[in-house]
Formats: sequence, C-alpha cells, structure tokens
Amino acid sequence: MSNDASITRTAVQPAKDRTAQAVKERAAGRNRAGGSVRAVVFADITGSGGLYQSFGDLRAMSLITRCLVAMEEQVYHHRGEVIKTVGEGMLSLFPDANTGASAVIAQGVEAGGHVQGMTPLLTLVREITATLALPVVAAGGIADSAGAERALNAGAQAVACGTAFLAATEADVHRHYRARLIAAGAGDTELTDLFDIGWPNAPHRVIRNRTVIDWESAGRPPAGCRPGEGDVVGKRGRTRVTRYSDAQPTTSTDGDIESMAMYAGTSVDHVRRVAPSAAITEAIAFGIRRR
Ligand SMILES: Cc1cc2nc3c(=O)[nH]c(=O)nc-3n(C[C@H](O)[C@H](O)[C@H](O)COP(=O)(O)O)c2cc1C
Repeated sequence: MSNDASITRTAVQPAKDRTAQAVKERAAGRNRAGGSVRAVVFADITGSGGLYQSFGDLRAMSLITRCLVAMEEQVYHHRGEVIKTVGEGMLSLFPDANTGASAVIAQGVEAGGHVQGMTPLLTLVREITATLALPVVAAGGIADSAGAERALNAGAQAVACGTAFLAATEADVHRHYRARLIAAGAGDTELTDLFDIGWPNAPHRVIRNRTVIDWESAGRPPAGCRPGEGDVVGKRGRTRVTRYSDAQPTTSTDGDIESMAMYAGTSVDHVRRVAPSAAITEAIAFGIRRR
C-alpha cells in the first residue's frame, strides 16, 4: 500500500505498463470527479499453482473465483474500487490507506519463508506507525516474549510468528527439517532467491544447506547453470521435488530432505523443542504480561 497513486513492484509485475496506465487513468478520473486516490492495493492468492496441481483446472479455477468474489466484496465494503484482476491477483484503489485496510502486517527482513522487504522489523514498525493510523501487526524474527515486547514497544498492536510454529506438534514438518530448526541459530539462515522453481523472483529466508553451499562453491551461477539443476531430489506425496524447488519438506516428503528449501527466520534462535502450538503461544504471550 502506498500513500499516493503510485504502485509497488509487486503490483506491476504482470502486464506492467498496461497496469500502471490503468491506475493512472482511474486516479485521474477520480480526481476530476472531486475524489482522490491515495492507496493502491494488490492482493493475490499464494500457492495457486499447487491448487491447479491438486484439484485440476476446473475445480481450482472455481475455488479461485470464489476467493476473488470474496475479496471484491471486501474492497467495495471498504469504499474501494477493483480496477483489474490478473490471474488470481486483484488490483484495487482506495480513497486513502486507512480506509483500504483494517490492519497492516509489517514484515521485517528477519522473517522466515518468503520475505517482501529489506527493512529490519523495528525500523519498519516505527516507519509505518508514524504514517498510518491502522493497527500494525509485527512479523519477522519474533519467537519469544522479549522479541514480541520490543515490537509492541516500537508501536505494534500485535505480533505474528511463523518459524516458532514450525516446531509445533501440529505442524506438517519433516523430522529432518524439524531437527535442523531445533539445532539452528539465526546465523545459519540465509536470505536468498535460490529456491525459485515454483515461485521465481521471490526472496526467501532458509536454513543454509547443501544446495546453498554447493551453489556458492560453484561461484553462484545464474538459474539454468546451477549445480544439479533439474535433479529430482525427492517426492512430496505423488509430486516430484526438483533441486531449487520452493516446496518445503513436509511429513509426506521423501528423499534428500537436506537439499530442499527449509524455511526459517532469524527467530529460529528461540526454537529449541517441539511443543503444542498452544504452549508456544502461551510462552510468548504470558512472558510479555509478566514484564
Ligand atoms: C514455512 C514458512 C512459509 C512461509 N510462506 C510465506 C509465503 O508463502 N508468503 C509470504 O508472504 N510469507 C510467507 N512466510 C512468512 C510469514 O508470513 C511471516 O511473515 C514470517 O513467518 C514471520 O517471521 P518468522 O518466521 O521469523 O516468525 C512464510 C514463513 C514460513 C516460516
């Protein structure tokens, strides 16, 4: 979301120029009509490729259409306007940022999994709270009460954790991946764009593993020339997992798990045992209250 009628890199990726032009025209139209456009939001459904693989084209398309209809209802409910849909993504305009959303998730560069920005979490939270009146949810690098408290003190109203819950008993995480999480520290994680098959051009934070190290040793060659490119390293259910795939090792994954994308944030520092998700939540939340 931006404070003027410009759009973010993510928003312009598909059909870049036509989309930018559509935004400009709509913004100009609104301005002539006496209104103003202050915020542009692009939302998409992540992992939609997997939906097509699992359910087949027709069923996946019907699920995605239902999702788009629900998103559209929310956009109009918040006085916004849908200007176009791109595949399973939707671009909308709002009179201002505070109208367009009920809350904002600030994701710091410390986060595990796919990471949308390069700004450290606390800096980002302070920047956003200085600009927007919306509640801010802080995400990235938090897996204990001290980290949560720092984010709340910086102005966040809530925190969101991902890596912490990879060690939950309920999580669908392969035992080797889980053992690596429990043994790893923040310094064992790497922000990279290496595991790009299935999701290209999307930086992500993972535990450094054999795939990362072999690629570095080969002089960091570009996609297409990387060591073992195209190798099948395992299977997830009935789907083959190739080296550099974005697929993370679940309990139904077999093969060379160590070579696969093992997502983790710097918060992995605080992941030391497997526990029920309720206990993980309590350990983070109750610690804050006692301070
Ligand atoms: C296993 C895993 C998968 C993730 N997948 C995505 C994703 O597909 N898209 C995304 O925007 N963020 C993704 N994230 C990031 C989370 O939404 C969240 O921002 C992050 O987990 C917060 O940092 P933390 O992991 O240090 O708690 C993922 C995180 C993890 C741990």
